[in-house]
Amino acid sequence: MLVSGGGTNLQALIDGVEDKKILASIASVISSKPDAFALVRAQQHGIKTRVINKKRCGSQEACDAALLAALREDGADFVVLAGYLSILGAPVIHAYRNKILNIHPALLPAFGGRGYYGIHVHEAVLAARVPVTGATVHFVDEGTDTGPVVMQRIVVVEPNDTPESLQQRVLEIEHQILIRAVSLMAQGRIHVHSGEVHVLEQGEACGCESGE
Ligand code: GRF
Repeated sequence: MLVSGGGTNLQALIDGVEDKKILASIASVISSKPDAFALVRAQQHGIKTRVINKKRCGSQEACDAALLAALREDGADFVVLAGYLSILGAPVIHAYRNKILNIHPALLPAFGGRGYYGIHVHEAVLAARVPVTGATVHFVDEGTDTGPVVMQRIVVVEPNDTPESLQQRVLEIEHQILIRAVSLMAQGRIHVHSGEVHVLEQGEACGCESGE
């Protein structure tokens, strides 16, 4: 898992693994920030942690190489970005094509892209006076918040919402859909054909080309 902040999504996945809702283990938690509380959460559960950022690596290229080497060394079959605020370079995206999940606190493609992160997303939702927002799990591609959507769930905007109250309700939904998506991913039930996501029924054969 790649993180940069408080790690409530990480915590949801740790709990999901411990409760056996997710039949997988978290190989390691890699943070772009040395003081991310997510690292403490991981350590409290005996999960290996690393810090990889430009300050330590020197350049984006060196960071991508370090990240790839770490993911391979830790035996990561797939990657989850949970509040990861750094850039993932093309080498990482290519090596883990359709194997990197991200959680975004809005209904993509709405309120996504550059500048839409953290509380700014919820401020923009309220400023736009839309009746609903939500959360999205999607695969990461070369764009910002543009990859194939895996799962979304709606959150109704209430008349008295502040950015903070909305963020809190969306966060609860994020945790739920992230656990579900990671559980399906761990079972090999999420496939992408021509940019479209297919979720297989339990026991259903894929019938897809290798690499899909
Ligand atoms: C979440 O809102 C997530 O959607 C976004 O960053 C936030 C991270 O929260 N990408 P946390 O660190 O998991 O608590």
